[in-house]
Parts: sequence; structure tokens; C-alpha cells
Amino acid sequence: MADLIALHEAVRQCVDCELAQGRTFAVPGEGSPTADLMFVGEGPGYNEDRQGRPFVGAAGGFLNDLLASVGLRREDVFITNMVKCRPPSNRDPFPGEIDACAKYLDAQIEAIKPKVIVPLGRHALARWFPNESIGKLRGKPQQFGDITLFPLYHPAAALHNGGLRVTIEEDFAKLGELLRDARPAPAPMAQPEAIQADRVPAAEPMGSPVAPALEQGPGQEPEQQDSEGQDGESQQLSMF
Ligand code: URA
Ligand code: SF4
Repeated sequence: MADLIALHEAVRQCVDCELAQGRTFAVPGEGSPTADLMFVGEGPGYNEDRQGRPFVGAAGGFLNDLLASVGLRREDVFITNMVKCRPPSNRDPFPGEIDACAKYLDAQIEAIKPKVIVPLGRHALARWFPNESIGKLRGKPQQFGDITLFPLYHPAAALHNGGLRVTIEEDFAKLGELLRDARPAPAPMAQPEAIQADRVPAAEPMGSPVAPALEQGPGQEPEQQDSEGQDGESQQLSMF
């Protein structure tokens, strides 16, 4: 995790392309440092630039809803973008900007080692499939070495198009199935008491040093958060 913190610090200070000029905050990404699932958008918009966090505007609200529809929270996954600084007036990032920023996404993938990556929209898809269209590959898992790629339309595209919204919702349901199939089978429902018993205090000692949640905002020092009330996989890196 130390690698990821250093990486995000480097992003915040990066001036390797023109996008550094117009930004308020760079937006490295946030979520679990051990996430199995990573989302890659295009680049920060107005709200993301202001807050230094990915997908916090209208598209982010829709992404949160989609995650909830398959039983996931933002902190269960990792969310980032192709370019970490906002293109002026939300224009498409230029190829040179995407190239300059690619080292950060590469390093995030290397550090987090997600099993499934979801490119959101055509710019993210192009990192893996430069000559394919998102309309063709959306909702179809693609094996890329150890990683399963599961392209989706960008949620911002669906905000203004009811037909696309239904398509993304259906594709997301397929993503949910893919994740379920990849996980070990859950304990049988017939033994809820045993499951409950396992979760009682022994699994979560007070002040456990095992899973400190870590949060870091622009210009803030990292601070410990109380992990009480969260499950054993609550280790979360929220870095923006
Ligand atoms: N759109 C993106 O591609 N990324 C964000 O972080 C927000 C909106
Ligand atoms: Fe650096 Fe990427 Fe921001 Fe360009 S977009 S300044 S390469 S962090």
C-alpha cells in the first residue's frame, strides 16, 4: 500500500502534461488497495477536479447505483481514470495527455492487481483495444493475460439516453454474475448461526492493527480511521 500512497502523491504533484495547468486538484483514484475490481473512466470532470475524487458528480451517482445493484460499495472496488487531471471544458483528452498519464494507471494496476478491469467508455477501452468500438465490446468479457476486461458504456453517456441506461444496467448485471462465478461458493444458508458466531468479537478485536482504514485528502496528512463496525475486509485506501 505504501507504493500506492507514494504514487498518488506523485500524481498530485505531476506536471508532465498540459492538463496540470488548469486543474484544481489532480484525481489519482480511490478505493480498496486490494480490490478485485477496478473501474477506469476517462478523466475528472468539474466536480471531481474540485474535490480531488473520481466519479463524484452525476455520473458518479449513477455508478454508485450500479455498484449497489450488484451488492458492491465504492470502497469494495478501485475507481480511477485514464487521465488524472481535468481536461478544460471536459474536452476529450488528447493522445499525448493519455500517453503522459499512462504510467500512473499502469502502476495502479501493478500495485492493486485487480482480477477484473472495467473500462468505462471508448477512451478507457482504447488502452487495451485501440481499434475496437465500445458498442461492440461492451458487456463481453475479454481475457487479457491474468486480467478479465469487462468494457461498459460510460455512465455519463447514459445520463442523457434512456436506452443506454437500460443497456448499462443489463451489462452491469452480467458483471455481477461474472464476479459471483469467480468467487468461492458462499456458506450454505442453512447455517446462519455459525456465520454469525464467526463474526462476533474474536474476528474483530478492538483496536485491531490488522485493518486500519486510511484516508487522505488533498493537502491533508494521512489519518487513521476507526474500523469498528466494518467487516474484516474493510481495509480501504481513499486517496484523492
Ligand atoms: N467521468 C469520468 O470519466 N471520470 C470521472 O471521474 C467523472 C466523470
Ligand atoms: Fe500528470 Fe496525468 Fe495530470 Fe498530465 S493528466 S499532469 S500526466 S497526472
